[in-house]
Amino acid sequence: MALLNPLIFGEVLRKASDLDNIMEKNEQLRAQATGFMNRLAMIKKMGFVPGVGTAPFYIVIAEKKGFPPVEQESLAHCLENMWLKATALGLGFQLVSITAQMGDNVEFCRILGLQSGKWGLMGCAIGYPVEKLSISTRPSVKEVTTWLR
Ligand SMILES: Cc1cc2nc3c(=O)[nH]c(=O)nc-3n(C[C@H](O)[C@H](O)[C@H](O)COP(=O)(O)O)c2cc1C
Repeated sequence: MALLNPLIFGEVLRKASDLDNIMEKNEQLRAQATGFMNRLAMIKKMGFVPGVGTAPFYIVIAEKKGFPPVEQESLAHCLENMWLKATALGLGFQLVSITAQMGDNVEFCRILGLQSGKWGLMGCAIGYPVEKLSISTRPSVKEVTTWLR
């Protein structure tokens, strides 16, 4: 964890700076990437990546890249099952999406024993929660369902 944390934080700083430069010249990307950019800026301000070192376990899962590329879909299905199981066990579960940006980071992949650039990555943090979260607000199923007749 002590090794991974600065690697991920360094990637956040690099991505924020690269994106900032590209966004200056590209109006379309500026509109698309503002949310992501704000999240990177928030992490930069906090000085750490939520989930990495803030919970007992940071778990990275990997799926070999193939064609057509579906590794992130596979990883999402895997994480959904992990999320359901963790919840059933009374564990707190937090997605750490920034993990997906680490697939080309040579040092990060070396620690995992993976060849960089060859794998899709995603991650989550798991541990017993310090406090119980309030119930999520959800729209009614009727509001979000469209039936085609
Ligand atoms: C695709 C996806 C990526 C997410 N990535 C992160 C993340 O990187 N860090 C984080 O703290 N939460 C992340 N979340 C969690 C959400 O912010 C939220 O806490 C979670 O989906 C629970 O939603 P709820 O409050 O509607 O129940 C992610 C959620 C989704 C669906």
